[in-house]
Amino acid sequence: MAVVSVEGIGAHEGESVTLQGWLAARRSSGKIHFLQVRDGTGTIQCVMGKQDVPPEVFARADHLPQEAAVVVTGTVRADARSPIGYEIGVSDLAVLSTPAAEFPIAPKDHGTGFLMEHRHLWLRSSRQHAILRVRAEVIAACRDYFDSHGFVGFDAPILTPAACEGTSTLFPVDYFGDQAFLTQSGQLYGEAGAMALGKIYVFGPTFRAEKSKTRRHLTEFWMIEPEMAFADLDADMALAEDFLESVVQRVLARRQTELRVLERNLELLARIRKPFPRITYDDAIARLKEKGFPVEWGDDLGADEETALSEAFDRPVMVHRYPLANKAFYMKPDPADARLALCVDVLAPEGYGEIIGGGQREDDLAALEARIAEHQLPRDAFEWYLDLRRFGSVPHAGFGMGIERCVAWICGIRHVRETIPFPRMLERLRP
Ligand code: 4AD
Ligand code: MG
Repeated sequence: MAVVSVEGIGAHEGESVTLQGWLAARRSSGKIHFLQVRDGTGTIQCVMGKQDVPPEVFARADHLPQEAAVVVTGTVRADARSPIGYEIGVSDLAVLSTPAAEFPIAPKDHGTGFLMEHRHLWLRSSRQHAILRVRAEVIAACRDYFDSHGFVGFDAPILTPAACEGTSTLFPVDYFGDQAFLTQSGQLYGEAGAMALGKIYVFGPTFRAEKSKTRRHLTEFWMIEPEMAFADLDADMALAEDFLESVVQRVLARRQTELRVLERNLELLARIRKPFPRITYDDAIARLKEKGFPVEWGDDLGADEETALSEAFDRPVMVHRYPLANKAFYMKPDPADARLALCVDVLAPEGYGEIIGGGQREDDLAALEARIAEHQLPRDAFEWYLDLRRFGSVPHAGFGMGIERCVAWICGIRHVRETIPFPRMLERLRP
């Protein structure tokens, strides 16, 4: 007998099949059991009539609790009332295991704290299921985009000797008596990759000891970071919009079912087409002042400011040329105005804020040495990075996109904590 999955079960209409899964819910009367069986690919109703199975099989389902592991055999039939269009008429049922206790997550409202404590079980809910499938699609879309556009996948180390994104958010690690840190970004290594291979992308987990408790911050998140030799800020922005359009449109095309479970407004995602609007930081400050924000040139843009800026647009907005003073040491100043960095932040619509940050890198040896000193970074740890400017230095640029922020936006969910299987945050290291 063919073992089938709920996804694509329509291809087996009229056939007798076997399905392996877990009992998501049960409704029973003396004459009939309605078993909702979840197999990881979806959930299907399995209908067991008393007269259709031997008495001992019918009795097996009598008190079967949620999350019992089951093997169902039966015939696939079309059913107009089913959300997936099909159900199974059961002819046999085997029970592989029954829960040792009542499943803690009942189909009722639990608080987020409780659900987070039970994250390992919460993952079984249809909402989490949908989000994690969108996440997997986003990651596959990112990789496919770069793989098919001449970028070479390039893995950066996770244990590093120095900071990339400022020294205030480093996670220290004892490295055989030496001080090491969990990486904040693969960028610096990605630059070495670009000088070797031309166009590369780094994809991996990154870490920030962020003491902020916001809906956008994790302490461990995944970042995809392309880096291109012979590229300036304009090329970087062109790449960012082409890449982001491609990721959103692919998820929209392939994960409609999941996005509908999440009640996502698909119209809004369909509008994510390039070109994206571009505004300068100066313009952003002017727009914010007009809206009554008490901001001055030189200020960082916080979440509220980002939301206010993005309200004017129905697609991501690229804010470029922030003040150099607020930015990381590797940023290249704008030759037209040395107070500005050749950088860009891409702000997602609907208040999701910055999802991409990047720009053109300082490629001049002396200028970079001066920046390392200004930022009081340990020169020793950056000698190898300075070598990239000593030998064959060229203009180059890249960016980083946080997978979780992108998934939160595409799914239309407020908080990034649900976009990764096991989130790590200021107050959460378990499960
Ligand atoms: O703007 P960031 O800090 O840029 C960099 O790390 C650069 N080195 C990237 C590069 O040019 N290669 O971070 C980039 C993106 C942000 O736009 C955001 O999407 C995500 O990483 N991010 C976070 N996501 C979740 N939690 C956090 N604490 C994050 N910090 C950054
Ligand atoms: Mg940033």
